Amino acid sequence: MDSKIIAPTYAKANIRFVKGKGAWLFDSKGKGYLDFTSGIAVNALGHSHPAIIKAIKKQSEKFLHISNLFPNEPQIKFAQKMLSLTKFGKEKGKAFFCNSGTEANEAAIKFTRKYFSGKGEKRTEIITFIHSFHGRTYGSLAATGQEKLKEGFGLMPAGFKHVEWNNAEALKKAVGKNTAAIMLEPVVAEGGILIPSKKFIKTINELRKQSGCLVIADEIQMGMGRCGAISCSELYGINADITTWAKALGGGLPLGITLINEKIAECLKPGDHGTTFGGNPLACATGLVALEIISKAKFLANVRERSAQLRAGLEALAKKHAGLGNIRGEGLLLGIETEKPVADLIVACRKQSLLVLRAGTNVLRLLPPLVITKSDVKEALKKMDAAFNS
Ligand SMILES: Cc1ncc(COP(=O)(O)O)c(C=O)c1O
Repeated sequence: MDSKIIAPTYAKANIRFVKGKGAWLFDSKGKGYLDFTSGIAVNALGHSHPAIIKAIKKQSEKFLHISNLFPNEPQIKFAQKMLSLTKFGKEKGKAFFCNSGTEANEAAIKFTRKYFSGKGEKRTEIITFIHSFHGRTYGSLAATGQEKLKEGFGLMPAGFKHVEWNNAEALKKAVGKNTAAIMLEPVVAEGGILIPSKKFIKTINELRKQSGCLVIADEIQMGMGRCGAISCSELYGINADITTWAKALGGGLPLGITLINEKIAECLKPGDHGTTFGGNPLACATGLVALEIISKAKFLANVRERSAQLRAGLEALAKKHAGLGNIRGEGLLLGIETEKPVADLIVACRKQSLLVLRAGTNVLRLLPPLVITKSDVKEALKKMDAAFNS
């Protein structure tokens, strides 16, 4: 194994993949695994999608990187498309490019504070939610509502308050004159697949209006088609001033974006924030192709149809097997509650050559590529049935 030379920050499964095609990954012996992890919500178009290969080839023949000191055509085209597909296009919004989810959230946090300092207001506090996950760098980690991830890392940046998810009353009490933003994942993904109630969303929108705080929606896992729409916050009617995106955004390459509305964009000037690689031409050209495919109505309809098929199949499995509970989720982020240790179920699924994930402490998380077919879903359910029997 690679444990002699790779820092031990990940628990790795001992399978060496040599290639992938669609929803499948293959090891060196040619054994196929149905990939319901999508590289943790990255490979929306599956593996080796011809349009992605073509985009990478085409852009790599021009240039890979030119820095943010010059206008970058793939970046401009990507921003135009992204803005046109979200409400930010109508709000004269702008895009800040980076490379990952945690960086997109760092930018959101910094822009929020800059916005209020630009207005001469001393608001700095950001309210986020228990169980949330926003990334591993210090700002995003401070925003994350999981204390165990912060242990041993010393002082976190100040100014973050964590409130119980779906507790509208607690949120009302927490918002005050120092509140700069309410920051949320439209669906809490890694922390347990938690859907917001209608009342909770209504309260967030009302608090934004009443207190003048901003709303930051972290679309990193659920946006870009996974929820069955491009924007999950818009699907749920969350009125966000800032949205953050990564994972599937670059068509498999590292790409992140922070979308901001006009009033926030007006508070920024050259030198306020930056990153060398952010929005590099290769990732943007590739991401644009992915975005064009994913945003087609027929593509998103398939996400919703496969979601309904998978959910119905999981509900049947939950009835059949002891120790399984409710099905949670939206679109193609679905989870099944389990009384058995999730780690054991993941190993059992792997033995059936199905790759799955964990969410929270007791949920088996399924994140298939958005291109999965009816027969892929059938096959995955068959494999899970066998795994749950073992
Ligand atoms: C909702 C959400 N936000 C932020 C992140 C952090 O993204 P990255 O790992 O690209 O930094 C993740 C990653 O799992 C996520 O699911």
